[in-house]
Amino acid sequence: MKSVRPAFSLAALGGGGLALATLSAGLLAGCLPDAPKAPTPPKMEETISIEGTLSARQMFDTQVKPLLQSTCGACHSLEVGVGPGFLRSATPAPDYDPYPIITTWNNFIVTEPELSALVTKGQHEGPAMTMSQYDTTLAWLKKEKRERDSFTVTPFSLQLPPFGITMSPSKTSPIYNKIPLDRIDPAFVGAYIQFVALPLNSTTGTGLEISDLRFFNRKPGASANEQRSIFFKNPLFVLWRAGVPYPDPAQSFFGFERTIKLNQDDVGSPGNGVLIIPGIVVLDQYRTGYSLSIVFDKIELVKPVLGGDPCTAGQLTYFTNNVARYLGAKTGMTAASCAQATCHDTTSKVAEIDMSPTLMTGANLGPLCEQLKFYNNLGVITKNTDPNGGASHPFKWTTANNRCGVLSSPPENPCFDNFKTKLDTWKATQ
Ligand code: HEC
Repeated sequence: MKSVRPAFSLAALGGGGLALATLSAGLLAGCLPDAPKAPTPPKMEETISIEGTLSARQMFDTQVKPLLQSTCGACHSLEVGVGPGFLRSATPAPDYDPYPIITTWNNFIVTEPELSALVTKGQHEGPAMTMSQYDTTLAWLKKEKRERDSFTVTPFSLQLPPFGITMSPSKTSPIYNKIPLDRIDPAFVGAYIQFVALPLNSTTGTGLEISDLRFFNRKPGASANEQRSIFFKNPLFVLWRAGVPYPDPAQSFFGFERTIKLNQDDVGSPGNGVLIIPGIVVLDQYRTGYSLSIVFDKIELVKPVLGGDPCTAGQLTYFTNNVARYLGAKTGMTAASCAQATCHDTTSKVAEIDMSPTLMTGANLGPLCEQLKFYNNLGVITKNTDPNGGASHPFKWTTANNRCGVLSSPPENPCFDNFKTKLDTWKATQ
């Protein structure tokens, strides 16, 4: 896909705006929708919807499945096939029912159906979707989203919310756009993406060239040994016009994946960050007033290597005396908070974190102290357990769930506030 770059300028089509469907279908099929020829009020779609009477499941079974099975099934309908098995059956033959698999596949059903990994794949070892496959699949994905919206939210959280860009007057006087990544997750605080933006046509101000694209993993107030590495994969640039996304048809950064260490610099002298190769992307559909966003297939924290940043004696003492009892808060001999069965206990070890040592008097809490210090420095522990926070973490401290008070007298209420105060003090301890 990388090499497919549209060799045309939309400006040449005169007034055509985003009428990409009029261009060579072979070039763009599977990448962009049959975009409106003129700005159409988005509401239209709802009133003329033809799939109105079918459920999302029925749309998939009657329309999408037969269309994709013939073209894509050859490589995608086996668990171990030529390609990933998103079209494989969830039930044994002779039944063929890929619905449960395809609907839970990573990044297929998302808040922005146009950005679904299913329809943005384009040409690869397999073919790009035809326009009709694209339209049918997209209509189904939109329906899936609408049905899901009514009872759950499936956020496309790996996306920078659309932002405006500052154009540079010329190559020789660059203005750097800095886009903070904590808009995706507070754990990325301080990290940002930086680039220079120039109009492709400096006379008309149309089109957009992004260059010198770099990643800066920085964190204000980081301690000397802090290890906040960030991994990301396949950043995709997306233009937004009136709430409709237009992904980079060339997927210029497909195949780029890297782990970037805190303060890592690759570009020349220190302080210059890491280049996201090839560092440049051309989006010729850009017009003044459009915004931009970046979607990642993956962007996440890399777990630190144990022993790299151990707790100091002061940190360990504070952790042992003040924090540990919340984690192992117990009624009788049974853990009731974090270290409870199926959570961060010694068997389940969710997120590879075992908090059961906090239940044992005199246990060595050193490794746990180091592990949790990492998350505490990023605010992850309070975020996950805050009863008023929106984190999708199964355990939260509530007034009803006042388990931290079990060991103290008088009981602490509300629990979360005290827990948070202790975590903040611990963070400040050296
Ligand atoms: C000739 C075999 C072949 C055919 C036919 C084929 N693909 Fe693929 N596909 C692959 C291979 C191999 C990969 C894995 C490598 C990659 O991601 O490019 C893949 C990966 C994908 C992925 C990424 C899945 C993931 O989660 O990583 C999507 C989406 C996809 N194909 C869509 C399609 C669609 C839609 C069609 C039909 C229009 C199709 N493919 C037809 C071989 C094929």
